[in-house]
Parts: sequence; structure tokens; C-alpha cells
Amino acid sequence: MAVIALYSVKGGVGKTTLAANLAWCAATTSCRRTLLWDLDPAGGAGFLLDAEPPGSGAAAARVFADGDAERLIRRTPFDRLDLLPADESLHDLDPLFASLGKRKRLAKLAAALMQRYDRIILDCPPVLGELAGQVLRAADLVVLPLPPSPLSMRAQVTVEAAIRQRTKSGVRLLPVLSMLDRRRALHRDLAAAQPDWPVIPLASVVEQGAVEQRPVGAMSPQSPAAIALGQLWTRIERELAA
Ligand SMILES: Nc1ncnc2c1ncn2[C@@H]1O[C@H](COP(=O)(O)OP(=O)(O)O)[C@@H](O)[C@H]1O
Ligand SMILES: [Mg+2]
Repeated sequence: MAVIALYSVKGGVGKTTLAANLAWCAATTSCRRTLLWDLDPAGGAGFLLDAEPPGSGAAAARVFADGDAERLIRRTPFDRLDLLPADESLHDLDPLFASLGKRKRLAKLAAALMQRYDRIILDCPPVLGELAGQVLRAADLVVLPLPPSPLSMRAQVTVEAAIRQRTKSGVRLLPVLSMLDRRRALHRDLAAAQPDWPVIPLASVVEQGAVEQRPVGAMSPQSPAAIALGQLWTRIERELAA
């Protein structure tokens, strides 16, 4: 049983893309009962799996107040893969968390959901407030997508500081080079400097997956991007087992 968070303080780095595709890998390749929990009010994770709920309500934030996540969970087109969808009520959860006064609210809800799931994958918005604290305290592993650019790499320092400030004992962090273009010298240099970091190539098949609302591994299993996503999932399973 494990909670894996796709988290960064930056947007547009590949969190949602990785969350949806890794959740598919967990459910399909590893045959894990998997829940993809979308915490970003912008949604997107469900869209990528063609599992977006019809019309959005204001129920996603209520999960934190009343503790009843089950009634919101919906199936996706894929076996063993369920979705806890986002809606706009997730904007500015901090006042709700402040009134609840429970620093491990999300962690407790995730622990309860572990009766039904082997893997919970959190797709997070790029925030640093109390929601980030709740996520970092709930996660067994934080996957940090980093497009290879100096500005995006700075996010690593910020996230490491956030983990130190918001958790007692820390949490394992796995940086991933999320949109690597080997034609560019800067990208090759950054990858060579971090040989231990998993790499996802910048690939049109990933964008095509968003157009077709299908996981890359289901759409184009032999593509380098699908293979890299599968290898990243294997690495995550290995990190969790260590
Ligand atoms: N490996 C990749 N190759 C090509 N495009 C990608 C890749 N990863 C993400 N993208 C694209 O980059 C954009 C931002 O990705 P997204 O997953 O929404 O980031 P975030 O959730 O961090 O904001 C999207 O248009 C997505 O399709
Ligand atoms: Mg996103």
C-alpha cells in the first residue's frame, strides 16, 4: 500500500501527464488496485483517461470535511483504475484545513482508502500552502517532474525545503526529467549530470495521448515515451520496496 504524489511548486512541468499515465501503469502493468486522486481544481487527470465526471459539482472539498471519499469515486475505462475527480471547490482549501485543524487529514483519508486500493496517486496543483503540507505528510514517495531548464530545476530546492518544513521525518523525493529533448545540448548535459534521475522524453505521442484521452501505453505501447513511462513506474515500485 502506498501513496505516490506528483508534486511541484511549478505548473506545466508534466505532473498531470505523469499522474494519469503512471496510474494506468500501476493498474495495468502491475495489476494494482489504483486510485488516481485529482487534487488540482483545474482537473485534467480524469480528462486524460477519458473519465471526466459529467458536470462538476462542489463535492471534492467536502471529502476533507466529511471524510466520505467513496461516494465521489468513479470508474475509468480501465480495469482496476478508479478516479477521485477534482472540481472548483478545491480552490483555496487552506481555510477549510485551518478550521479542521488536522495536519494529517489527507493522510488519514488515504489510509482509509487503502482498504480498497494498493496504490493511490495524487495529482497536485502547483501550490505551497496547507494542501502541499497535507500531500507531503500523506505521501510515501514524492515524484517531482523537472523539465530540463535552469528555472524549472530551481523547483527542486523549493520542494526540498517544503518537505523539511512540513514533515517531521521527511519523505522520499524522486526527481524526474520530464520533457527531455536529446537534440538539445543543454538537455543532454543536464541528463548526464543526473544519471540516476529517470527520464521521460519530450514526445509528440504524449501530446497525442492528451488529444485522444488515452494513456500513452495503451495508445502506442512500443513508443519510446511509453517505454520510458513503464520504466519510471518500475523505478517507483522499486523505490517503494526499498
Ligand atoms: N513528455 C512530454 N512530451 C511532450 N509534451 C508533454 C510531455 N509531458 C507533458 N507534456 C505537455 O506539457 C503540458 C503540461 O503538462 P501537464 O502534465 O499538464 O503539467 P502540469 O500538470 O505540471 O501543469 C501539456 O500540454 C502536456 O501535454
Ligand atoms: Mg496539472
